[in-house]
Amino acid sequence: MIAERDLLKKEMSEIINKAFWADKAKGADSLRMVTETLPAPGSQEVLIQVKAAAFNYREVMIIESGVYPLPVKDTFIPMADGVGEIIAVGSAVSNFKAGDRVAAVMFPYWQSGPFQAEFSGQLGGALDGMLTEYKILPAAGVVLIPDHLSYVEAAAYPCAGVTAWNALFGGAALLPGQTVLTLGTGGVSMMALQFARAAGARVIATTSSSEKIGLLQQFGADEVINYKEQPAWHIAVKALTNGKGADHIIEVGGAATLPQSIRAVQATGQISMIGSMATGDPLSNPNLLLTTAATIRAIAAGHRQHQQQMNSAVAVNKLRPLIDRVFPFTDAKEAYQYYLKGQYQGKVVVSME
Ligand SMILES: NC(=O)c1ccc[n+]([C@@H]2O[C@H](COP(=O)([O-])OP(=O)(O)OC[C@H]3O[C@@H](n4cnc5c(N)ncnc54)[C@H](OP(=O)(O)O)[C@@H]3O)[C@@H](O)[C@H]2O)c1
Repeated sequence: MIAERDLLKKEMSEIINKAFWADKAKGADSLRMVTETLPAPGSQEVLIQVKAAAFNYREVMIIESGVYPLPVKDTFIPMADGVGEIIAVGSAVSNFKAGDRVAAVMFPYWQSGPFQAEFSGQLGGALDGMLTEYKILPAAGVVLIPDHLSYVEAAAYPCAGVTAWNALFGGAALLPGQTVLTLGTGGVSMMALQFARAAGARVIATTSSSEKIGLLQQFGADEVINYKEQPAWHIAVKALTNGKGADHIIEVGGAATLPQSIRAVQATGQISMIGSMATGDPLSNPNLLLTTAATIRAIAAGHRQHQQQMNSAVAVNKLRPLIDRVFPFTDAKEAYQYYLKGQYQGKVVVSME
C-alpha cells in the first residue's frame, strides 16, 4: 500500500515554484526570479499557494543597508507578510485543510508568551519569506484570515497589525476611554489607530502632512497634530489631555522622538518602542527617563496568539486596511523600487493572482 505522504510527495513533485531571491544590503537590483521544484510538505506542515505579499519598512532596512535588529541570511526570499490558500496538508495536520485561507506568522516558531532567542527566525530574514508562488510552513506558523478581507487586504495585517496589536494589548492592555497617541501615518500607526478606535479609545494622531489629516480622521482619529508645524507636539498632546498625557504611545520615531514621547505620556502610561523613522537629535539626557513612571516597552512584532486575537478583532469590527498600490508578482522588482522611494500612503502589496 502506498503511504498517504508518498502520494502527496508524488503530486507535489509536479509543482514547479517561482520565487524571488535577493541579497542582503545589495538593493532591489539583486532581486531575481528563481524556478525550483518544491518538496512535499512534512507531516506537520502545510503547502500554501501564496496569493499576496505586503511590504513593511523592514524590507527597506534589509535590502538597502542590511542593518536590521534580527538575523538575516545573505541570500534569501524576501518579505515577511504573505497570505494564501492551503492546497495540501501533512499527514499529522488536523487543524487546517485544503482551501483554508491563511496568513503566515512572521515568527513562525513563536506561538505565545515572552520572546526568546530561539524564536528569532523571521520570514524574509533568517527564514525565506513570502515573495514566492508556493510556500511550505509549519501548520503552527499560519493562522486563518478574516472572511471579509480579500487576499490583498489580508496581506496588509501580519507585521504592522500584529506589532500594533502587541503594543496596545500585549502589555498593559488598552482600556476603553483611554487615549492613544500614534506617530505618523505609516503601516503600524494606521493599524494602531484602527484597533484603538475599535476598542473604544480616543486617538490623537500626528502627521507631517496636512493633506493626511482627512485620511487620519477617516480612520477615526479624534485629533490630529501636524508635527512639522508643531515640532513641540508633546505640548499639544498635554493640552489635549488636560495636562495628563496619553495612556499609550505608538513610538515609531525612535531615539529622536523619545524625549517628546516621555513628556507626552501619562505618568503611569506606556510607550511602545517600535521603530526608528525619525531623524534628529536622539535622547541625549537619560535622566529624562526618571521624570516619568511610565513603562517603556520594546516590541518585537508579536506571536501567533497575538495574530489570532488581532484577526478576531478585525473580523468582528469588519476592519479594512489602507492599500496604496498593488503590483503583479512578475513586477516584484518594480514594486520594490516603488516602495524604496517611500512615496506610498498605505500598504504596497504584490499580488500573485
Ligand atoms: N519593532 C517591531 O516589531 C516593528 C514592526 C514593524 C515596524 N517596525 C518599525 O516601525 C517603524 C514604522 O514602520 P512602518 O512599516 O509603519 O513604516 P512606514 O509605513 O514606512 O511609515 C512611514 C511613515 O512614518 C512616519 N514618520 C516618519 N518620520 C516620522 C517622525 N519623525 N515622526 C512621526 N512619524 C514619522 C511618516 O508619517 P507622515 O507621512 O504622516 O508624517 C511616514 O509616512 C519602522 O522604523 C519599522 O522598522 C518595527
